[in-house]
Amino acid sequence: MDISNISSIKNIAFGRGAFSQLKSIILERQSIHEIENKSKNFVIYIDDFFESNEAMINPLKSIENTEIYYIDSSKEPTTTLINDLRDRHQSQSESPGGLVAIGGGVTLDIVKALSNLLNNEGDAEDYQGWDLVKNKGVYKIGVPTLSGTGAESSRTCVLINEKTGLKLGMNSDFTLFDELLLDPDLTRSVPKDIFFYTVTDAYFHCVEPLSGMLRNDFADSYAKMGKSLCEEIFKLDDIRSNDGRTKAMLASYFGGIAIANSMTALVHPFSAGLSVVLQVPHTLANCLVMLAMEEYYPNEHRIISDAIERHGIKVPRGICNDLSNEQFDKLYDSSIIHEKPLTNGLGDDFKSILTKDKVIEIFNRI
Ligand SMILES: [Fe+2]
Repeated sequence: MDISNISSIKNIAFGRGAFSQLKSIILERQSIHEIENKSKNFVIYIDDFFESNEAMINPLKSIENTEIYYIDSSKEPTTTLINDLRDRHQSQSESPGGLVAIGGGVTLDIVKALSNLLNNEGDAEDYQGWDLVKNKGVYKIGVPTLSGTGAESSRTCVLINEKTGLKLGMNSDFTLFDELLLDPDLTRSVPKDIFFYTVTDAYFHCVEPLSGMLRNDFADSYAKMGKSLCEEIFKLDDIRSNDGRTKAMLASYFGGIAIANSMTALVHPFSAGLSVVLQVPHTLANCLVMLAMEEYYPNEHRIISDAIERHGIKVPRGICNDLSNEQFDKLYDSSIIHEKPLTNGLGDDFKSILTKDKVIEIFNRI
């Protein structure tokens, strides 16, 4: 059996209401930094969706040596944004000793990248790839407010380099959060359709590794737990009940670990094509792809189709009906480029199965 060296997150506060512990977690860390002669300054990045949420923001405003910045999460993070944030902090009298991310995948990824860049020379684009980060970043605490992306437990943070068009993460053990606060009550305000799509993202982070050829027992175990939690959520009367939100937060965390130690297969590459060419949001794109992939995932196709019907989820159909040949070419190119996961799904000769005609047939079903 191969030996793996796996890094993991040290401290996790989990449970409904856990958010109330954030202030004391920051204060405790600031005390440790004082003893260790590190900066006590903490910067809290929050999704601007919560800007008017006084119950959330006011306790944080009262913490000394902290600043709050709001993130527009409608835009995917770029390397330029991370470089600009680094410059802003380094021009201040004292660079932060800690960062907190409160939000969905975008906010979490911004803080993960910024933490790395504050303690490493050069620019964000220098660290897009695998294991390029040399020094541990500044202390970072993640507080997800959406369940599904797995950004809270993954060892990557996806950034777009606008100059090259490259969309790639800083894949590194240093990218992992030092500490997580997982509070299912923070996802209470997520609309039902969005909640469903994000849960299915966690579901595919588990289903795809389990369907692949590159398997390992560590990733499989987390994937099995995440998959079964998602299937329990789909069977609930109300997917956003306390039980549903709690299970979703765990499934997202487990799915993130599964994907960090394994690989996606067929859904994510096709989904990436839809996002790049037609700007379909990631989690919706995954769902649309699964609905067109009955031949590869018959059981999961049935489970997702039944769940969509049972919970009355709105799913746009026919979005590829009137595309030009040029758009289908782009869809093919931007899906088939993901060779590693497609090899995981179908083997080395995946291109003989996923011919251009076959890929376009699948997109036509969407
Ligand atoms: Fe995903």
